[in-house]
Amino acid sequence: MSIPIADRRVLVTGASSGIGAATAVALLERGARVAGLARRHGRLSEVGGLLAVPADVSDPAAAGSGVDSAVTALGGLDVLINAAGVSFGGSIEDGDLQEWRMTFDVNVLGLLAITRAAIPALREGRAPLIINVSSMSGHRILSPRNTVYGASKHAVQAITTGLRKELAPAGIRVTAVSPSYVQDTEIHDHHRDPAQAEAARTRGNELGVPMLDFVEAMVYLVATGPEMGIRQLDLSATHQPD
Ligand SMILES: NC(=O)c1ccc[n+]([C@@H]2O[C@H](COP(=O)([O-])OP(=O)(O)OC[C@H]3O[C@@H](n4cnc5c(N)ncnc54)[C@H](OP(=O)(O)O)[C@@H]3O)[C@@H](O)[C@H]2O)c1
Repeated sequence: MSIPIADRRVLVTGASSGIGAATAVALLERGARVAGLARRHGRLSEVGGLLAVPADVSDPAAAGSGVDSAVTALGGLDVLINAAGVSFGGSIEDGDLQEWRMTFDVNVLGLLAITRAAIPALREGRAPLIINVSSMSGHRILSPRNTVYGASKHAVQAITTGLRKELAPAGIRVTAVSPSYVQDTEIHDHHRDPAQAEAARTRGNELGVPMLDFVEAMVYLVATGPEMGIRQLDLSATHQPD
């Protein structure tokens, strides 16, 4: 049996743009209580009805207190959506250690810190659920310019599997959502080379799943009742099956 979205208390990381923002808006429109966590407070404040929690997930103390503020504001927590993520692109030979560190600090350690902080509240939640926004790059390395990002998403896949086993006894379900590309996000804005950023943006918009379709899948997951856990959702545009 599905659960009314209006009964859900949801924390979305990465809610200031792209997938996180669009998912938060869709859930708010359907009556959920939603807290959004990201660094850009101004962008969070632009989303009507969102409980804005400015925090940097790569700072474990800030991640922990951000989750605590969200749980207090929501009056509990049923769903955690880990959507915060960064991608810099680039080969390993030309790689930048700071970018590699940030990729793992946000995509892997940040997700772990947020999740650790959220588990006590999820244990008390109704039909609790964690959704980790991974990537098809968590299954395979498509481009040699995407290796470090792909390695971080392979880690997200492994963490999702382990968490599912760890938390099943508490009735907490854990799902990985792995899109190939999703249109209309800001993920490509951080590439060092503006030409590469533009090429990646164009590719993402040509080959990507439309955001509204992607968000419908997220809403479906959030509404799924406690008897069924969806382990993995792989998504791609029809004309880009890989
Ligand atoms: N777009 C795609 O084609 C695609 C494909 C597969 C997977 N994904 C995954 O989808 C997720 C969302 O990405 P997107 O495409 O929506 O990109 P996006 O528009 O750039 O959104 C990324 C979000 O992550 C937040 N974030 C980044 N660093 C953070 C930090 N240190 N602390 C807190 N929040 C942080 C950003 O907020 P602030 O900058 O305000 O902190 C922003 O809200 C990512 O995990 C990405 O890997 C995207």
